Formats: sequence, structure tokens, C-alpha cells
Amino acid sequence: MKVLVTGGLGFIGSHTVVELQKEGYEVLIVDNLENSSRDVLDGITRITGVKPEFYELDLKYKTAIEVLCAEHPDLAGVIHFAANKAVGESVQHPLKYYKNNINSLVYLLEELIKLKNKNFIFSSSCTVYGEADELPITENAAVKPAESPYGNTKQIGEEIISDVCNINNDFKAVALRYFNPIGAHPSAEIGELPLGVPQNLVPFITQTAMGLREKLSVFGGDYPTPDGTCIRDYIHVVDLAKAHVVALERLLNNQQESNLEVFNLGTGKGSSVLEVIDSFERVSGEKLRYEITDRRTGDVVSAYAETSRAKNVLGWETQLSLDDAMASAWKWEQKIRN
Ligand code: UD1
Repeated sequence: MKVLVTGGLGFIGSHTVVELQKEGYEVLIVDNLENSSRDVLDGITRITGVKPEFYELDLKYKTAIEVLCAEHPDLAGVIHFAANKAVGESVQHPLKYYKNNINSLVYLLEELIKLKNKNFIFSSSCTVYGEADELPITENAAVKPAESPYGNTKQIGEEIISDVCNINNDFKAVALRYFNPIGAHPSAEIGELPLGVPQNLVPFITQTAMGLREKLSVFGGDYPTPDGTCIRDYIHVVDLAKAHVVALERLLNNQQESNLEVFNLGTGKGSSVLEVIDSFERVSGEKLRYEITDRRTGDVVSAYAETSRAKNVLGWETQLSLDDAMASAWKWEQKIRN
């Protein structure tokens, strides 16, 4: 069965391609290479032994996706990762984010509803919950006003899909709300490749340990948490990738309770910034240079997932630990710098 993966050379996309191929799916990747590299194709091929078909296309232009879907009317499903994802950049360049993230989704859906199989998986984010009223966060928690244009594109994206599901009974979709994806493939053939100075915690840690950054700023040490630093639910990207295969199978086997289902993807365990640093130091044997600085605007205090819906309904739960994720992130960082 043939599956289209948009943004398939990106961080989560590439790991998902590997898991799809391992389960025997034929994968078609579309990526515009704006925030990824063609070399990722070789990394995927070295892991699985199968080179996925690749189209360098930009989905914010409608013709690209028209041509693609016309050439592949037999797609079993689409997993849509392609999007811009930097929170700070989205505040500076909101229209870039609305144009890219929203146009690509609309164009893709327009073509998809013409196909025989209307199975769609959307990359959403726990950012839709903002500062949640209760922890752990269930899928029923209120969606809070978005803190950034990036976050807004995820909320609007879910709403667009919901509206499409309302009037197309045969259109089936799953929105997956990721908590904090980290780590790399254990082979170190693929991993995260941030452009410029990393905005996310784990690549900043590994680049600091590698000597590329002077020290890590821990954003805020006076939060109302046990050690004063923010708490997040860090999920290994390989676990996350596997959830996409399980979600796709749910769609293909018509197991859905409604034609749009939403799942949180996290470990259920919150870790503070200092606990992440501690895990890194333990698995790497390196001492990390860091200092506690001011809070970062827009950060929530604490976010971790209630995972029982994913476990009971989807039949998926994480297998890998924070230490596994940090060890794989470090192995990857060492590989790409050597
Ligand atoms: C961020 C985005 C979120 C997005 C996710 C994608 C914000 C406010 N949120 O989540 O919308 O879906 O990335 O991966 O940007 N930290 C430091 N020092 C650093 C970097 C981070 O202390 O140099 C801390 C942060 O304050 C936070 C934690 O590490 O407590 C995780 O930060 P990060 O990796 O940026 O993820 P989120 O902010 O949770």
C-alpha cells in the first residue's frame, strides 16, 4: 500500500517513513527542502534498505499537489507533516506561517477528497492546550487561544479538518497532538537538523556539549515546580513515529469511532529542564555548561499528557525512556559533527 508523507525528510517525518517502510508500506515523500536535506533520503535508505520515492515539491502551490495526486490516485493514505514550526519566527512572520501551513493543508484536502481512499493524519501539537487547567492533559482539555501564529495554524488546521469531516462521511482523519518530540534513530542515520541556533531544548543541549554553543540558558528557575524549572513531556521520536503507523492502520481497518479522532502522543511523565540536563549528563558522561536565566516569553509552566486514550483506543504507548532519547540525541550530534 502506498502512503504519501509530506515533510517526509523532516525530523518526525523521516522517522515515520522508516517505521512505515518497516511495516511494508510503499512510501512517497514530498518535501520542499526548506528546513531539511536531501541527504536524509540516504539515511532512510541505509536504515531500511529501501529508497523511498521522493518529490521536491512545495505544497503551498496548488499545482504541485494536483499533479502529484493525479499521478497517484491509488494512495492508501496521507500523513501530513509539511509545515513551518518555529514559534518565534511565526511571531515575526505570521503571513509566512498562515500561507504555508494553511494553504498546503487546504490544497491537500481539496485533492484528497477526490481520491478513492480518504485517510488523513495531521501533525498537531499540545500547544493547542496552552497552559492547561488540569494535569495530566486529556484530549478533552479546553483548546486555549493560541500564543503564536504557529500555534494558531495547528488549531485552525484541526478546525479545517473537522469541517471537512462534517460534510464528507467517507473522509477519515486523525489529529495527533504531539508533546515534546526529541531524540534520534538509534542507528544515528537520521535525527534532528535544526537550522541556525536551536530554539528547542535538546538540540541546544547537544550542541553545547559539542562546543558549538557556549552554554545553555535555562529559561527560568522560579516556576512553581519542584525544582523551579518548566516541566514538559519529552517523547522519543521513534515512539512517536510508530504511533503514526498505528493510527494509519486504524484508518485503513475502519476502526474509527468517528471520522475525526484526536489523540495525545506523550509519555505521560513530566520532566523538568534540570531533569533533562541530568539525564543528558548521565548518559553522555559529559558535564553541561548552563546557567539559569530569565523566563522565556510564552512558555507554559507545565505540560504532560494523559495517555490512556492513546493506550486504550489506539493501542499504542511509548516504549523508550528519557535516557534512551538523550543517548540517541547525543549519538546523532556526535555523528553529524564528525
Ligand atoms: C516548543 C513550542 C511548541 C512547539 C514545540 C515543537 C514554544 C513556546 N513552544 O515547545 O509550540 O510545538 O516547541 O518542538 O516555543 N528551554 C530552555 N533553554 C533553551 C530552550 C528551551 O530552558 O535554550 C526550556 C523551555 O523553557 C521549556 C523546555 O526547555 O521549558 C522545552 O522547550 P522547547 O524545546 O523549546 O519546547 P516547548 O517550548 O515546550
